[in-house]
Amino acid sequence: MSKTFSIIKPDATKRNITGSINSIIEKSGLRIIAQKRIKLSKIQAEEFYSVHKDKPFFNELINFMISEPVIVQVLSGIDAVEKYRKVMGATNPENAEEGTIRKLFALNVQENSVHGSDSIDNARNEIDFFFKSE
Ligand code: CMP
Repeated sequence: MSKTFSIIKPDATKRNITGSINSIIEKSGLRIIAQKRIKLSKIQAEEFYSVHKDKPFFNELINFMISEPVIVQVLSGIDAVEKYRKVMGATNPENAEEGTIRKLFALNVQENSVHGSDSIDNARNEIDFFFKSE
């Protein structure tokens, strides 16, 4: 068993589809072992996405991520990082496979409904970033 970190993003909370997304997560066999609904501060969003700070879409991404509440989650399962990346689908929904969260729900490459850690190390860091004090 391992863990990964997930964010249900503002485009999804705004459309009231967090339950539909959680249902897909659970049907995949992943278990939601922690979650909370929070409004990210600009500083939190900038720190969380600091790896993208030189990208042309950075400012737009930050403004999007602080525009509405998000759900931050810890998911547990066998090969959780890899498994959740498959369940999410490609970053750009145009390239996402049928049945994936992004194919079903994402609006575009930015408003792509969910984030998931891309490595076991990042999963640990991202979980600590939002859940360490609990
Ligand atoms: P995520 O997996 O959370 O990691 C970085 C985020 O930046 C990504 O999902 C998208 O929300 C956003 N993103 C990635 N590429 C682009 C792009 N080309 N244009 C706008 N936003 C992007």
